Amino acid sequence: MPQSVPLAVPLLDLRRQYDGIREDVLAAIARVCDSQSFILGPEVEALESEIAALTGAACAVGCASGTEALWLALVAAGVKPGDSVITTAFSFFASASAIVRAGATPVFVDVDPGTLNLDAVAVGRQLRDHQLRTKRLKNLRAILPVHLYGQCADMDGFDRIIKEYGEENAGENTQEPGIAVIEDAAQAIGAEWSGRGAGSLGVTAAFSFYPTKNLSAYGDAGIVTTTSPEMAEHMRRLRNHGSPRRYYHDEFGWNGRMDAIQAAVLRVKLVHIADWNQRRQQHAATYDRLFAESGLTSSHGSQESAAPVRLLARSPQAKHVFHQYVIRAQRRDELRKFLTERKIGSEIYYPLPLHLQPVFSYLGLKPGDLPVSEQAAKEVLALPMFPEMTETEIRRVVESIADFYS
Ligand SMILES: Cc1ncc(COP(=O)(O)O)c(C=O)c1O
Repeated sequence: MPQSVPLAVPLLDLRRQYDGIREDVLAAIARVCDSQSFILGPEVEALESEIAALTGAACAVGCASGTEALWLALVAAGVKPGDSVITTAFSFFASASAIVRAGATPVFVDVDPGTLNLDAVAVGRQLRDHQLRTKRLKNLRAILPVHLYGQCADMDGFDRIIKEYGEENAGENTQEPGIAVIEDAAQAIGAEWSGRGAGSLGVTAAFSFYPTKNLSAYGDAGIVTTTSPEMAEHMRRLRNHGSPRRYYHDEFGWNGRMDAIQAAVLRVKLVHIADWNQRRQQHAATYDRLFAESGLTSSHGSQESAAPVRLLARSPQAKHVFHQYVIRAQRRDELRKFLTERKIGSEIYYPLPLHLQPVFSYLGLKPGDLPVSEQAAKEVLALPMFPEMTETEIRRVVESIADFYS
């Protein structure tokens, strides 16, 4: 009898998604080719309305990438050279590099040990520390939380802190402008916080449609949502060389435009996003159940346990869309090697926190300064997660992890 080949499980298989929508995608691309209108135009405008409706934001502005979206979101919210912006050190590089590109200084604050999202309590502590405020937090203009892995950061916490800080400053009678909350929602399309959509929680919010994202383009693309029609108008100019009308320039912008083929593909996929996110949630529940049955895990977010696998905390206010299903694993790198040998995909988001990246050495932070982020970077492992995966595949992942620890 021929030996059966063990099941390979990819981290992400876009081919399966494509098989289900191929005809619609090709028709959408053909529509753009027939129109011979390739940059911005009606497809991008239609996508902007559809994303605004999905997120609950007033407006959306399509652009070239999630990174571009972050820059637009920061500049439109009033971040300017000389300002500082609080953000997490445990994110993709663009969350911080966009702050630098806006001319501001990122101020890295540690993450919550349960969710690994920017810790509102730690942010509050920094703001209450007067010395820190005058040194590190000069001209604080914004807080930029990242909805990591598809779960919203503690938006109530940030609102509370800003209110407190504003009242305190009013007492000191300073002329400082208020602090804006800007969402990095790159990983969180369709996510919610207390029933409100990611993208409608801050003054501006940036989404990425990079091909691995829950809603993904066939190339680079991004979008900014905002509660302010004026900011939306500003961003429309900024993404087009700061130009209110052709060949007239009031300020420096850039070419950050979205192309029509990406918008057309995204509109095909947008019809499915609620279903796809729901399937991700079901897969996450299956992982949770199988991990619990395997005896490998502690309860969600527990920091004390010596269990070989720990699951991240889920905020009760959050509707999590599981861009990634991430565990914290003992002997993580050995486990990853073991899974790779079994042809099971995994990834480390992120292996080196941003405050320790060589490019940010000018900020003067050192190992030990943000211990929760640093520990997470040593332990996190993202497991296969995409809507079309099967329970058999999830079972194979969890059984393989159990084999490794047995
Ligand atoms: C949290 C986060 N912010 C920003 C980005 C940047 O998006 P893009 O790759 O579309 O420029 C990404 C995705 O890569 C991301 O995951």
